[in-house]
Amino acid sequence: MTNPDVRPTDLPSWKNLTAHAAQMKSQHLKDLFASDDKRFDKFSLQTSHLLFDYSKNLITDETKAALLALAKESGVESWRGKMFAAEHINATEDRAVMHVALRDKSSKPIVIDAADARPAINAELERMRKLSEKLRSGEWIGYTGKTITDIVSIGIGGSNLGPLMVCEALKDYSDKRFTMHFVSNIDGVQIADVLAGLNPETTLFVISSKTFTTQETMTNARTAEQWFMAAAGDKAAIAKHFVAVSTNRKLVTAFGIAEENIFDMWDWVGGRFSLWSAIGLPIVLSLGYELFDELLQGAYEMDLHFQTAPLAENAPVMLALVGIWNRNFLGYPAHALLPYDQCLHRFPAYMQQAEMESNGKSVNWAGEQISYGSVPLVWGEVGINGQHAFYQMLHQGTDIIPADFIGSIAPTVVVEGHHDALMANFFAQTQALMLGIDADQVRRELSAKGVSAARIEEIVEHKVHRGNRPTNTFLLNKVDARSLGALIALYEHKIFVQGIIWRIHSFDQWGVELGKVLAAGIQPELDIAKETNPKHDSSTRNLINIYKRAKTK
Ligand code: F6P
Repeated sequence: MTNPDVRPTDLPSWKNLTAHAAQMKSQHLKDLFASDDKRFDKFSLQTSHLLFDYSKNLITDETKAALLALAKESGVESWRGKMFAAEHINATEDRAVMHVALRDKSSKPIVIDAADARPAINAELERMRKLSEKLRSGEWIGYTGKTITDIVSIGIGGSNLGPLMVCEALKDYSDKRFTMHFVSNIDGVQIADVLAGLNPETTLFVISSKTFTTQETMTNARTAEQWFMAAAGDKAAIAKHFVAVSTNRKLVTAFGIAEENIFDMWDWVGGRFSLWSAIGLPIVLSLGYELFDELLQGAYEMDLHFQTAPLAENAPVMLALVGIWNRNFLGYPAHALLPYDQCLHRFPAYMQQAEMESNGKSVNWAGEQISYGSVPLVWGEVGINGQHAFYQMLHQGTDIIPADFIGSIAPTVVVEGHHDALMANFFAQTQALMLGIDADQVRRELSAKGVSAARIEEIVEHKVHRGNRPTNTFLLNKVDARSLGALIALYEHKIFVQGIIWRIHSFDQWGVELGKVLAAGIQPELDIAKETNPKHDSSTRNLINIYKRAKTK
């Protein structure tokens, strides 16, 4: 993806947006709503899975037109075509970016690197389905003849967060045939805790690692194998209790996992976009293949929407553009993801990796330092819990933090009296963030409650909410496999569009390498018999030495 001649800041639309933002900064959202009762109609759209309301952003018709011009001038449509055509848009790794192929429900060939990938994709899906059915039917049994009851997924980052997030989101649709466990942390406390409650005779491990070299995953996999072997004693038993997902068959085989238990993925699937591949095996095992297929279907439908809807009615494009407006032209440093649905409780963590590992870059395609912001800090939590924790800052803090509110019309689990209470908060919060409450209103309200004039003046400023805080609202009919697939794909394409406009490489992740390399050098030094590298800076050297001295005591 090299196109050194286009810098976003040189585009006429960027310059136009910069001037326009200077005017918009003096506007208040509540006035924009008061003066135009068509705002919702103009600035919301409906896809087959969700309603997307972006009207509570500090935008006007002019802003929207200018943002769409930016998308056009940046070549978003042509780059979108290149991605779907499997061009090597991941230029620094010289790879295609084809997670969309994994959920392509058409019957057309999917040509990647001169070969049709569809047969291999379908074959892997079929193997996943068969494994799930064998486990569910009880045909697959452990080394002592017992059926499997517990599945432990070992992986980290994209090889953990996607399956974990989806299994949590859809667990109420599962028959709960298996108890799922997820281990990602190299901190032994996590795997020790999981293994403590398990019986090796009835446990299946899924080791997921695209590279099969990731230290955390390999360390946990070896611990799991030792724990298992301590009970089973016979290496042949591993074939009944360990399966793996990787691009690296050689290393998986060297680890001791049987050939027939290796599920393939491909280097054209990025880790943080891989839940659609065999990395989604824990999803298939937990929920059954049909629900996984529904998830793929939902994502595919969003892919079609992204490819065909006009830019002005294109949900991923508008989400990306509003994000660019808030980040680059209004200067907001962070972005919150706030699901009002308990089942989406890992969604913010999952999307945090997807957004920040993809677009947390500071050089453009030409390798030049960029002069504008790329991805903001993306963070979040289940909204209703956040209300009693960090929302104070969202309402009255010195920084304005735009936020995405995600809710559903029907609850996944119906418990009398709960969902309306939840959704009342959902609607109230975006309204409060937008409207605020000014000093006169505060005075009137306090006075109506009989508070003395003197006391009112003491506290009035503390109770003022200036409002004008932008939010997006997503309203799903229900969180189910299809709508979740669509929601995830929506954000994936948002990331893509923003990366194109920012002219950064969204699909590599060199920024996580340096720390890994240094850790590999430091680990042997932590042996008390070894000398600490004298060339370390004084902080790192002293910290290591204090640790080593303390552990000998
Ligand atoms: O360290 C970052 C990263 O490379 C992520 O991009 C990836 O999702 C994760 O590590 C796990 O990598 P692997 O699947 O190769 O173990």
